[in-house]
Amino acid sequence: MRITIFGSGYVGLVTGACMAEMGNQVLCYDIDAGKIDRLNNGEVPIYEPGLDDYIARNVEAGRLEFTNDVEKAVAHGLFQFVAVGTPPDEDGSADLKHVLAVARAIGEHMDDYRIIVDKSTVPVGTADKVKAEIQAKLDERNSTLEFDVVSNPEFLKEGAAIGDFMKPDRIVVGTDNPRTSELLRTLYEPFNRSHDRMILMDVRSAELTKYAANAMLATKISFMNELANMAEHFGADIEKVRVGIGSDPRIGYHFIYPGAGYGGSCFPKDVRALAKSAAGEGYQAQLLNAVEGVNIRQKQRIFDKMSAHYDGDLSGKTIALWGLSFKPSTDDMREAPSRVLMEALWEAGANVRAYDPEAMQETQRIYPDQAGLELCESANQALEGADALVIITEWQEFRSPDFTLLKDKLADAVVFDGRNLYEPETIAHFGLAYYAIGRGKVPGKVAPKPSRRKTDRG
Ligand SMILES: NC(=O)c1ccc[n+]([C@@H]2O[C@H](COP(=O)([O-])OP(=O)(O)OC[C@H]3O[C@@H](n4cnc5c(N)ncnc54)[C@H](O)[C@@H]3O)[C@@H](O)[C@H]2O)c1
Repeated sequence: MRITIFGSGYVGLVTGACMAEMGNQVLCYDIDAGKIDRLNNGEVPIYEPGLDDYIARNVEAGRLEFTNDVEKAVAHGLFQFVAVGTPPDEDGSADLKHVLAVARAIGEHMDDYRIIVDKSTVPVGTADKVKAEIQAKLDERNSTLEFDVVSNPEFLKEGAAIGDFMKPDRIVVGTDNPRTSELLRTLYEPFNRSHDRMILMDVRSAELTKYAANAMLATKISFMNELANMAEHFGADIEKVRVGIGSDPRIGYHFIYPGAGYGGSCFPKDVRALAKSAAGEGYQAQLLNAVEGVNIRQKQRIFDKMSAHYDGDLSGKTIALWGLSFKPSTDDMREAPSRVLMEALWEAGANVRAYDPEAMQETQRIYPDQAGLELCESANQALEGADALVIITEWQEFRSPDFTLLKDKLADAVVFDGRNLYEPETIAHFGLAYYAIGRGKVPGKVAPKPSRRKTDRG
């Protein structure tokens, strides 16, 4: 089948590469000419495990191409996938300008029947707006061409996106037209082999399903973070509580890890956008507003613990920071808790020596000339000259550090762990002070040790 993908970001590239892998003829379009040049030069502009191999193999086979020629893009595919960004507007609602720009481009250039498949996460009712934009352009051209608009939300997880796309839990298709549902079924057949995962519904329900899934997951995280904060007051250990409740199959173990708050390109913006669009319909989404509020507070928790440890004075401290991406196995820094933490540390006059296995380039791009930021080549290099260590993303390589080295390198012998990677007893054994999330009594502050470096300096 011939497929055009509008938007060559995380979703667009994964969709394009996986569709090409199944033998389809795919053309990926992006308005960012630089991105298309890089792709045409064999470079993959994002880090997603396995994606570079998929792209290389399918480009080589002639099934996957990249262009910034919009006319060519519209002419190419029966299926026109929309995978452009839907960033938050200033008021938190989803900004549809990219989606509607694609709709207008399709309306301007289409010369045959087209199925517009919306993969971007969009508020309920967007398919109607897309339809209206295309129709308006066709009317301007006095054209009677037919088209259909389908909602096909994407559920892939960054870091595991290829696997999620190739073996999806579900393929949600929202359409009111049996003809398009059959064509979509055929298109997705290769991804739907062992049992039927296709869930057909009306367009509006499909649009809401995507927001509902992300809002549910964000709610689980904020719920656990709220409980973790309570556990600190009660002198309980949230990690024990997590296992205690996760063992109930009605609750389950997924997404109940307490931490430094959720980030990324989806949960924060989708929770806000859903609450905002509900408010636009006259409904106040109390629970979702609380989920968002808890998350904003949670992103400050680690800084608050650091500040309390240092009696409110972090100026001149050098902090080693492990993990910058919003979660492991991606270089995505959108709404990452590390950004909130680093910005608070700089504001407090501290210096940051940061390391991340994949997100260094992205950090450099976001903070090009940031005083107080040094990007280090390894986790251990970040420790050089540091007073304290803070962990904010749970990359595998941080799970089993050399605690003797930490004790030796960190002048103030203290570790702040935003992801509960270590056992408090283990850390204590090595003579390190340890602050985690929801693990026992706080602010029961460990008295700061006199900084060796300060003492050295006299
Ligand atoms: N990233 C995820 O994990 C994920 C998962 C599921 C759904 N989504 C949703 O998918 C959509 C895309 O997300 P993403 O993370 O891939 O975004 P992204 O920012 O990585 O990529 C979006 C791309 O669209 C391009 N673009 C913007 N306007 C365009 C236009 N008019 N024509 C063609 N290209 C245009 C941008 O240049 C960019 O390359 C969003 O709605 C997002 O909420 C994302």
